Parts: sequence; structure tokens; C-alpha cells
Amino acid sequence: MNYGLHPTVLSWKYTSEPTEFSRNERSYQQPFTGRKISFIFARMSEFVVSARKYRPQTFDTVVGQQSITATLKNAIRSDHLAQAFLFCGSRGVGKTSTARILAKTINCFNRTESVEACDACESCESFNSGASLNVYELDAASNNSVEDIRSLIDQVRIAPQLGTHKVYIIDEVHMLSTAAFNAFLKTLEEPPKHAIFILATTEKHKIIPTILSRCQIFDFNRIKVKDIADHLMRIAREEGISAEGEALHVIAQKADGALRDALSIFDQIVTFSGNSITYQNVIDNLNILDYDYYFRIVESARKEDIPAVLLLLNDIVERGFDAHNFIVGLSAHYRNLLVCKDVRTAPLLEVSESIQDRFIEQSKAIPADQLIRALGVLSKADVEYKASKNQRLLVEMALMQLCSIAKESEKKNP
Ligand SMILES: Nc1ncnc2c1ncn2[C@@H]1O[C@H](COP(=O)(O)OP(=O)(O)O)[C@@H](O)[C@H]1O
Ligand SMILES: [Mg+2]
Ligand SMILES: [Zn+2]
Repeated sequence: MNYGLHPTVLSWKYTSEPTEFSRNERSYQQPFTGRKISFIFARMSEFVVSARKYRPQTFDTVVGQQSITATLKNAIRSDHLAQAFLFCGSRGVGKTSTARILAKTINCFNRTESVEACDACESCESFNSGASLNVYELDAASNNSVEDIRSLIDQVRIAPQLGTHKVYIIDEVHMLSTAAFNAFLKTLEEPPKHAIFILATTEKHKIIPTILSRCQIFDFNRIKVKDIADHLMRIAREEGISAEGEALHVIAQKADGALRDALSIFDQIVTFSGNSITYQNVIDNLNILDYDYYFRIVESARKEDIPAVLLLLNDIVERGFDAHNFIVGLSAHYRNLLVCKDVRTAPLLEVSESIQDRFIEQSKAIPADQLIRALGVLSKADVEYKASKNQRLLVEMALMQLCSIAKESEKKNP
């Protein structure tokens, strides 16, 4: 049984290999606290990946979920907190973190005016040291039997000794067996006053309606590229790592909306390249095609220079990049060019500030209708790619068509 354990202990198995350099010399000097385990973990936290070290501790530091944290704060302030919540959303977007923050805040004896935990009272301290008995976490992916739920239900009856609420976080709740679900339903329907359930899932569609109808549902957003990049920049500063904005942007894009993934890629890059993160070492490490290629292809296509685009493609393929990914990347590039043609869509441009100007510059040289036609050509190649017997030729033909777009539109609108 997992619940009741120190959260750091629970998650220890997920931490990555130690990096060679120490991130924060100060905590080496931390005095012996008297509790052996916390001492060990304080030392180990030297090497804890950023994702664990930078778990948000207040509602306001949760990135990109403002409407959820604001709703929770209001509910706490007005004393109208529901007793059962369903947190839906993909992995690594802040569900568990928000659940823990809720548990800590609701039990704080001295909440701040902005409805955050004070971080100093007895209850907050027990949360900080991982000793609080008011937060239970059950991972339903590995504890999904009726017995697991029964022992949870037994726990639920016991009122908290310190503070007012016990918060039960059931992660990956869609993994509970049907029998376990049924055993749980009654408790969920009439929970004791002190109990709050937070069910978390990455697969909302697997949650049965009887559960859905008993919970207040929060859909967690995937986190925007810019928000992730800004967050990484804050962490880099804190860690004394110099990082190029563009480099962090690429990491953020690769993370595909999950902040946890962004942080582990960030760690991977730091291990690989030390205290300075550059665009070049990120694309090398992640095996991403340099966007410079896209700029050059588009430029050559605009000049109707067929040999140049074919040679660029050859270079890309010889460097080991997949031609299909290249088509997808080039489409994204044209899409970016298109959105910066109009001030209204300019905010949809998801690139770092430093290369925005390059996009704007390049987009000026190509009329919107030609960009749209280019997108059509690429989308067709994308669809046909898998079925094609000669994929290289298919991509080459698409590139040649891109070279003749200007001519064709002249023919149509002389
Ligand atoms: N919205 C967020 N704001 C700040 N950090 C986040 C956020 N989402 C994820 N993280 C980072 O990723 C780690 C895992 O997040 P977690 O809350 O466990 O995600 P989930 O439960 O949705 O899978 C956290 O420790 C934190 O470092
Ligand atoms: Mg989680
Ligand atoms: Zn407090």
C-alpha cells in the first residue's frame, strides 16, 4: 500500500540518474534535522530532476491553469469547496501538483489574503516535511483492487488530527477495477465532512457516468509553448545556467504541452551540455532539423531555384532526417509565414522572439495566396507519403511544385 508515505519516497523511483555537478551547494550544509530520512532526501535532492525540484507549491505558481486555480481559490475563500473533483488532462500538466496544493491550502491555519498557504504554520510544516497525514495518494494504476479501495475507505472515516480536511488523491482513477469502482461509489456519494476526493485521469472518456456526475470536473490545459519556455527560463536563471531563448523554445515545442516532459528534456540537455544551453546543442541532442533549412528552402523556392531545393533536401536526408518529418516541418514553417501576414493572427506564431523577425521578413516576400497554395502542395505530399512507393521522389516533386507556385499564380491572375 502506498498512501501515507512521504511523497518524495513515493516518487523516488522516477528520478533520473544523478548529474555530475551539484546544482545547489547550499543544501549540502543543511544541518542534520534529526530525522534521518529527510536528511538523506535533502541530500539526494541535489540530484533530483528539475521536475521534482520545481513542483509548484502555491496556486499562483501553477503554470497555465489559471482558470482552475482561480476557481479553487474562490471556492476555498467562500467555503464552498466541493468534496469530489475530477482532474482531467494529459500527463505532466499539473494535476497532482494542484491536488497537493489544494490539500495544503485548505488545511493551513493562517491562509494569506490571496488564498495561499502560509508555509509556516504547523500544518504547512507537516506538509513541507512530507509528514502530513492529511494527504493520501493512491496510484490506481498499481493499486486497483477492491482491497485497495476498502482500506482507503477505512481510512476515510478517521477524522484529521491536525487541520480540517483529509484529501485523497486517486491517480489514474480510470484504472480501478469495476468492483473497486462500485465499492468506492457509496463513499463518494456520502463522504464524511472532512474528506475531499480528487480523482485524476488522463483518460476522461473511460470514467463511468456515475462517477462523472458526482464530481466537479476540471479540464487541465496543455501548456502553451511560450509559457513553458518562460518557465524554463526562470528555472535556468535560478540554477545559474545560461540558456538561449531559442533553445528553450525548441525544448518547449518538443514537450508538446507537458511541462514535466519539458523539464526532463531540459535536464537531459543540461547533463549533455553543462551550464550553457544553446540552440545548437539542443537541436543536436534532440535530433531536430535546424529551422534554418526551412528558411533556405522557402527562399530558394521563391527564387524558383529547383537545383537548390533538391540539394538542400539531399543534405537533409543525408544527415539522417526523415523525409516525412521534413514535410511536416516545412508545412509548419509555411503555416507560420501565413499567420504573420496579418496582425490579428500574428500571436499564433509559436516561435521564440529572436526569430520572429526572420519569419515576418520572409513572409513579406510571399503573397498569402501563394503560401496557401504551398500548404496545399505539402498537405497532399503528407497524405500520400505513406502509400508512395518512391517517397524520395514524392518529396522532390512537392519541392519542385513549390518552386513554380509564383508562376502558376501569375498565369491565373495575370
Ligand atoms: N502547470 C504546471 N506548472 C508548473 N509546473 C508543472 C505544471 N505541470 C507540471 N509541472 C511540473 O511537472 C511535474 C509533474 O507535474 P504533476 O502535477 O505531477 O503532473 P500530472 O499530475 O498532471 O501528471 C511537477 O513536479 C512540475 O515540476
Ligand atoms: Mg499526476
Ligand atoms: Zn499554513
